[in-house]
Amino acid sequence: MSPAFQAKKVAFLGLGVMGFPMAGYLAKAGHQVTIYNRTAQKADDWLKKHQGTQANTPAQAAKDQDVVFACVGNDQDLRQITVGEEGAFNQMSPGSIFVDHTTTSAIVAQELSKIAEKSDIGFIDAPVSGGQAGAENGVLTVMIGAQQAHYDKVKDLIDCYAKMQKCLGPVGSGQKAKMVNQICIAGVVQGLSEALHFAMQSGLNTQDVVDVISKGAAQSWQMDNRAKTMSQGQFDFGFAVDWMRKDLGIVLEHAKEVGAHLPITALVDQFYSQVQANRGGRFDTSSLITLLNKQPKIGN
Ligand SMILES: NC(=O)c1ccc[n+]([C@@H]2O[C@H](COP(=O)([O-])OP(=O)(O)OC[C@H]3O[C@@H](n4cnc5c(N)ncnc54)[C@H](OP(=O)(O)O)[C@@H]3O)[C@@H](O)[C@H]2O)c1
Repeated sequence: MSPAFQAKKVAFLGLGVMGFPMAGYLAKAGHQVTIYNRTAQKADDWLKKHQGTQANTPAQAAKDQDVVFACVGNDQDLRQITVGEEGAFNQMSPGSIFVDHTTTSAIVAQELSKIAEKSDIGFIDAPVSGGQAGAENGVLTVMIGAQQAHYDKVKDLIDCYAKMQKCLGPVGSGQKAKMVNQICIAGVVQGLSEALHFAMQSGLNTQDVVDVISKGAAQSWQMDNRAKTMSQGQFDFGFAVDWMRKDLGIVLEHAKEVGAHLPITALVDQFYSQVQANRGGRFDTSSLITLLNKQPKIGN
């Protein structure tokens, strides 16, 4: 720890696949971390690995903190832990900052920011990309919407678990950037699924083909990290189809509002709904290929 290091008092709400390791990096960096998780067992597990204090409600966790972080499920969950009966905003101090890492609509971010402002609480939307591995290795990409003065107060804290972060504009901009990210992923995963399916049907050795084309213009993160496991019918690598459908729902709704045309994204969303109907909701997003390949199958 450098002599200039100043430990901050922070809370982290939501110790799921993503929140658990992110809160861990804040503790490892030397900050005073208070945790809250709806299911207490996860908070107990976290305390076996890290130094910190456990709270029983979001409000209790948020009391007297410099910064309160959250990573929960969707818009409704976020409303509940902020402005619900035992929500964090009830106890946060004037001048403190709320950083939301949940993937939500831009509308809820703007709505909560206005409410927070009345109590002089800064609100930052900061959805992440990089998946479970990115969170566990502390190398997430963070897309931020915030007032610059608020962002300046939390930049160093986010650095504890990020390899890339950028403030992209006012509150809501982080969520809009995350929508752009998900549009890219939907198209790329469908393209990769069709390519691997085509290679298999053509009698090629898919691994050999991927080894070659991944060094050329067809390369992508999905190809580097998922092509092999997709070919082997393994779909247990983090970001779930259920979450992707939530995200694409947000994207398609926002597209309607701003008059953007997303024909491929809308189609891929329907493909994901078929994966869900085949009981693949908890499989990772690369399971799109199961709709094309006869083998291997998922679900029953
Ligand atoms: N997993 C990924 O690869 C990934 C990547 C990028 C972004 N994201 C986004 O990050 C967010 C979290 O994802 P995750 O994979 O960490 O999800 P997760 O493992 O299902 O964890 C969700 C967390 O939120 C808590 N929670 C949900 N609803 C709540 C409520 N109403 N009140 C209090 N706590 C609540 C859960 O508590 P319980 O333990 O009690 O259920 C849990 O701690 C989502 O918005 C997701 O889209 C995920």
